[in-house]
Amino acid sequence: MENEVKLISGAMVTLAIATASLVVLPYLQLRHEPPTPGLKPYTDAQLRGRQVYIREGCVYCHSQQPRDPSQAPDDKRGWGRPSVAGDYYYDSPHLLGTMRTGPDLFNIGARQPSADWQFGHLYQPRAYTPGSIMPAYPYLFEIRKQAETGDKVVALPPQFVPVGGVVVATQAAQDLVSYLLALDRTFPALAPVAVAGPASN
Ligand code: HEC
Repeated sequence: MENEVKLISGAMVTLAIATASLVVLPYLQLRHEPPTPGLKPYTDAQLRGRQVYIREGCVYCHSQQPRDPSQAPDDKRGWGRPSVAGDYYYDSPHLLGTMRTGPDLFNIGARQPSADWQFGHLYQPRAYTPGSIMPAYPYLFEIRKQAETGDKVVALPPQFVPVGGVVVATQAAQDLVSYLLALDRTFPALAPVAVAGPASN
């Protein structure tokens, strides 16, 4: 019996230490972290697009956390400066991701700001990146015989345009692209510090 008590109390102490260091301490440290200056809240369309990003599982292949040069050459890959806590102020839940089957997308809006490219790449990644292993998302688009007024027609390389039709982006695709284009944290992580000039008196 004595051994069971030791085992159970040992397990409880271990769990309490882990909870304190992994949950409670980070919460206390980051609770008042302000948004990085320059970070804008998401619009309604971008928030809907974020839900599409979650629903379609983009996070399973794409991270959103460029790392420090001492950990990974992410800056050389063109993925941007290391992210800081304030960059995630409006992200709930955050979409840090752990897998990097594809590139980090934290700054994709700055790296690839063309909405036409984003639509075409989602409809058929191989149209822009030959040999890409990213899945196509054809169900985020509709194929129509003719475009109607107000339709967002996707500009594709000619060999990918379906015969006798046009590819039109659904609302979900439009929201997703507006979210992707909003992913731009190219502003500095630290607010410029006012430099004290020489005393004037
Ligand atoms: C099975 C893994 C996988 C999934 C799931 C996936 N991707 Fe990708 N993605 C890739 C790979 C690999 C590349 C690099 C090749 C390419 O450009 O197609 C890529 C490239 C990209 C790029 C271009 C990045 C750049 O730096 O040029 C964007 C944007 C993108 N993906 C968005 C998405 C979105 C949005 C979703 C969800 C709807 C998604 N991906 C789902 C694997 C994936």
